[in-house]
Amino acid sequence: MAVLADRCKEIKVTLVDIDEKRINAWNDDDLGNLPVYEPGLKAIIRRNRNKNLFFSCEIAKAIKEADMVFISVNTPTKKSGFGAGYASDLKWVESSARQVADFSSGHTIVVEKSTVPVRTAELIQDILSDSENNSRDSNNKKTFSVLSSPEFLAEGTAINDLENPDRVLIGGEDNDAIKSLGKIYERWIPSEKILFTNVWSSELSKLTANAFLAQRLSSINAISALCEATGAEINEVANAIGADKRIGKKFLAAGPGFGGSCFQKDILNLVYLCKYYGLDTVSNYWEQVLTVNNWQKERIASLIVEKLFGTVTNKKIALFGFSFKANTNDTRESPSISIANDLLENGANLMITDPQVLPHQIEKELHSRDSETITDLKGSWSFTKNLEECVKDADAIVILTSWKEYEECDFRSYSKLMRKPSWIFDTRKIISKDSLKGSGIKFWQIGMGTLNYPKVF
Ligand SMILES: NC(=O)c1ccc[n+]([C@@H]2O[C@H](COP(=O)([O-])OP(=O)(O)OC[C@H]3O[C@@H](n4cnc5c(N)ncnc54)[C@H](O)[C@@H]3O)[C@@H](O)[C@H]2O)c1
Repeated sequence: MAVLADRCKEIKVTLVDIDEKRINAWNDDDLGNLPVYEPGLKAIIRRNRNKNLFFSCEIAKAIKEADMVFISVNTPTKKSGFGAGYASDLKWVESSARQVADFSSGHTIVVEKSTVPVRTAELIQDILSDSENNSRDSNNKKTFSVLSSPEFLAEGTAINDLENPDRVLIGGEDNDAIKSLGKIYERWIPSEKILFTNVWSSELSKLTANAFLAQRLSSINAISALCEATGAEINEVANAIGADKRIGKKFLAAGPGFGGSCFQKDILNLVYLCKYYGLDTVSNYWEQVLTVNNWQKERIASLIVEKLFGTVTNKKIALFGFSFKANTNDTRESPSISIANDLLENGANLMITDPQVLPHQIEKELHSRDSETITDLKGSWSFTKNLEECVKDADAIVILTSWKEYEECDFRSYSKLMRKPSWIFDTRKIISKDSLKGSGIKFWQIGMGTLNYPKVF
């Protein structure tokens, strides 16, 4: 919405949220306190806030004034009830639709921007149709058009993705509404990149796009384990297969497993949909993407324990990175959570560092496992932003997020501060083997064939 306001100065954009704290943070004079860290975002907020971009908790007023409402609320995986663990919880979408039904006036175009299961637009349409019928004889006659326009941005590159998207989708039946939304996108997006589909295709395309992206990561992660076992080198394999135009170079970086709020949730959603329609083989196929992802996280935690003489009890382990990837402060489903929890359960003392994540977020994530597991946490953790303090007397450094600042670290000098024998576990492949020569450090890297490298660098 910030990018939309930036590109369309004559459109007034009001962002409303039921979370007052979040709205206050969006309105904070200090732009360092924005709730989301995203390269380029601060500048856009600075340029547009309180000009044509407003942040407010006055939901009723904003809906009443709006010609177009984007529903962009959270759609997490259901925790209980039918479909728990798989289906999306649509209660926030439903309550948003009810708010629009209650507070709108005249004709309102409702754009479904949240990622939702196929046929959710129908739910929104049903709620709005009731309101349409009830308002027929009143002074405030209401009419609605529902469109689907899912969001494809990736955190960490969100601004660029929004400014130069590969495509945007508009799914719907009402040509006038489609044209209105299309005209907004056309202000900065070439018309050939604006794709028109029916509502259901639009909804399903979003789930499928995320499933395909996640599938590539699970594929390369699966091969990273095979590289380690055979002596092959994952970057060489990735380069070789990525050179094939049919495969392409992107999304072939092996890592500790994918995270973020979307991939797992959207695949679970797809799996649930397939099961619902009796397509069990299709459902099992996509679920494997998650099985491999969970396995990758577990195998990394387990090999760290194994290499540290089979025990990490009372050992200090420096964890570099807690966000699920670089350039975001988002920790949702970060592989760091599962790896940190596994190490804690094995008694490790973790020293966690991250340039953007705050300790209270880590606290929340590490204790979000079910209560039975929490009582099993045997180790301890603390947080520092100072990398030297982080590695001092550590038995191992585990690199979990590929922040630029970690690529620039002098790990050879860090190794002097560590307890011997010391280890580096590089799950993001950001360290060159040569930079460690003569350091006496032991080194494990994702997808690096163990047959080919010395035991000590
Ligand atoms: N985060 C991403 O990278 C990304 C990318 C593409 C699509 N999406 C999709 O966008 C949607 C939102 O994702 P997010 O990461 O921004 O979630 P989020 O949880 O960070 O934000 C959702 C916000 O909606 C607010 N909200 C809930 N109910 C509301 C209501 N009735 N009225 C007003 N505000 C309400 C919540 O308070 C919260 O601040 C999800 O469906 C997600 O799948 C996210």
